[in-house]
Amino acid sequence: MAEKSKILIIGGTGYIGKYIVEASARATHPTFALVRESTLSDPAKAKLIDNFKTLGVNLVPGDLYDHEKLVKAIKEVDVVISAVGHLQLADQTKIIAAIKEAGNVKRFFPSEFGNDVDRVHAVEPAKSAFGIKSQIRRSIEAEGIPYTYVSSNCFAAYFLPTLAQPGAFAPPPPRDNVIILGDGNPKAIFNKEEDIGTYTIRAVDDPRTLNKVLYLRPPQNIYSFNELVALWEKKIGKTLQKTYVPEEKLLKDIAESPIPINVVLAINHSVFVKGDQSNFEIGPSFGVEASELYPDVKYTTVEEYLQQFV
Ligand SMILES: NC(=O)c1ccc[n+]([C@@H]2O[C@H](COP(=O)([O-])OP(=O)(O)OC[C@H]3O[C@@H](n4cnc5c(N)ncnc54)[C@H](OP(=O)(O)O)[C@@H]3O)[C@@H](O)[C@H]2O)c1
Repeated sequence: MAEKSKILIIGGTGYIGKYIVEASARATHPTFALVRESTLSDPAKAKLIDNFKTLGVNLVPGDLYDHEKLVKAIKEVDVVISAVGHLQLADQTKIIAAIKEAGNVKRFFPSEFGNDVDRVHAVEPAKSAFGIKSQIRRSIEAEGIPYTYVSSNCFAAYFLPTLAQPGAFAPPPPRDNVIILGDGNPKAIFNKEEDIGTYTIRAVDDPRTLNKVLYLRPPQNIYSFNELVALWEKKIGKTLQKTYVPEEKLLKDIAESPIPINVVLAINHSVFVKGDQSNFEIGPSFGVEASELYPDVKYTTVEEYLQQFV
């Protein structure tokens, strides 16, 4: 069997990055995490760093803005996965430049992990945020770097514990009144973070995902807002009072809300009103679907996920 690729994760100490690092180590890929010196000595990150060490992850001191160290780190591996946060998305041009100089990378996964940014119908400020990821895609393609773009759709923990209720940041999901954006009919897709890590790492050495978008659309995790509420109602044995927010009202709220509320609302508009996670077919020329490629992965279903809040 071919040797497993060596993987460098940039942004591995971040929210989604840690799941990718853990999945890589679990899958016995030689795993490297580029971590800033300040983070290595940050008490708030000590537990995470210790866990990485236990898993045998190689911690590589470095920084997106330290070109020399970045090139050196990249030369040690075969595959680079970026999971940097929104503030660093545009500066992934630094990673692209380092990959070009290193010259050895057989696959690059830029920081995506959401909607397919080339197929969204978003309003500002989400439109510009998606636009940055789209520009990074074009730079990767222009440089001829082999890539996979992971469209993981909604992180389960960002949406399901509150059923995406405006202003709610912690569980439980609503038990009396629920706000539904739009008419509640477009389908959205929710994936547990561990599964996003697993599918991403599966794609690394898979020729079928080369220069493709890897969509995470496990059939049991595709729900319209109405269906999600109905599932929750069934679980708690109670009918909720529903308030529908028409699109015009939501657009007005987006325009009038401060950062970051307007960003969240605009993303929710793209997901739940425009249906941007499900309103197109995956064409074989540009994409592949993860649960079809890897039917042996036992993903957590929305049904199972919601059970913890009953
Ligand atoms: N689909 C969804 O529901 C959803 C939700 C949220 C985010 N996302 C997407 O997921 C991706 C990752 O976002 P996130 O929220 O997981 O990110 P995050 O938690 O903000 O993590 C950012 C990571 O980048 C690292 N970093 C920051 N500056 C750096 C530098 N100068 N050099 C090297 N590393 C640096 C951070 O390191 P430190 O630990 O040192 O700070 C951290 O590891 C983004 O593309 C985002 O749009 C999707």
